[in-house]
Amino acid sequence: MSTTETRTLPWSWYVDPTVTRLEHERIFRRFWQYVARADEIAEPGSFHTSRAGDIPVLLLRDRDGELRAFLNVCRHRGSILCKASGRRETIQCPYHAWTYDLDGSLLRAPRSDREGGFEAGELGLVQLQLDTWGPFVFVNPELDAPPLAEALEDVPERIAAAGIDVNTLRFLSRSESEYDANWKICAENFLECYHCAVAHPGFSAVMDVSPDAYLLETGSLRMTQHGPPRPEPRGTYDPTGEVERGQFHLLFPGTVVNVMPGRPNLSIGPIVPLGPERTYRFLDYFVTPDADDIWVEDMLAFDAQVGAEDRVLVERVQAGVRSGLLDEGRLMPQSEQLVAHFQALVVDALA
Ligand code: FES
Ligand SMILES: [Fe+2]
Repeated sequence: MSTTETRTLPWSWYVDPTVTRLEHERIFRRFWQYVARADEIAEPGSFHTSRAGDIPVLLLRDRDGELRAFLNVCRHRGSILCKASGRRETIQCPYHAWTYDLDGSLLRAPRSDREGGFEAGELGLVQLQLDTWGPFVFVNPELDAPPLAEALEDVPERIAAAGIDVNTLRFLSRSESEYDANWKICAENFLECYHCAVAHPGFSAVMDVSPDAYLLETGSLRMTQHGPPRPEPRGTYDPTGEVERGQFHLLFPGTVVNVMPGRPNLSIGPIVPLGPERTYRFLDYFVTPDADDIWVEDMLAFDAQVGAEDRVLVERVQAGVRSGLLDEGRLMPQSEQLVAHFQALVVDALA
């Protein structure tokens, strides 16, 4: 392999606001991202707010029960329309009370009959592409983007093949976190287990993280790691059960889908840039309805421990890459092949 292929992205790309702006435009506005669970917008009239990159997203269930996604921005002077979640007959902007129907059309604007040149028909909410995989809601701001099914590649089949029916999973909890690190550092850290033996002693005591057992695979927008537990795992979390192997997917740009070995389970969530050196993540945990509470608690504690260790790692990398003098780093061609694939996707998207 040539030297160029083992180089990392330029480290300036992890601190430069111009690059972050380009990434929002060319990546986060053009690719599918996980935004919510369908049960968060369950009833006609219910709404929920989220984001796709820097795009504020308003998810609505209309009167016919159809899920819709809109830009959460008023067409008048640009106020954010809704916060958090709730239920409404119509969507009224808190600034001047422009009022939108649940299908996004503008119903009323105070004084619009007295003012000239008002075309209500042209001032509906901006629609975004929305699709679902089981209970998981995805949005793509780009209306012409290929369908979600294409972006998911074979992940739904792999999850089903592991004995997990996403439609029967029970939602457990959402964990939210912010990091002093560029979103790509969070993604890249997720994409290799080269650091597992060094930095995740608990994880490595349960999972076989040796390169012959812990496998790396790339699709097109999908990057996958999977591996079995050790024959004699150590620790409180029990990885034995119907699900024999762990699966850890990243769907470009930032949706992670994890399955831990043991009882049927899944966690899913986005990696969202808040700024060049700040990242927001949330992760929705699901489990089979018949999993016992002790197993669930142990699994969540196990995952939280890995997450706490990863936080330290990514924030240390951010501090290092922003320090100057060095322009880039090196990748291990095998162990960090998913990082290389991810970086190539970033380069392609920004080109
Ligand atoms: S900004 Fe929404 S009504 Fe004026
Ligand atoms: Fe890690």
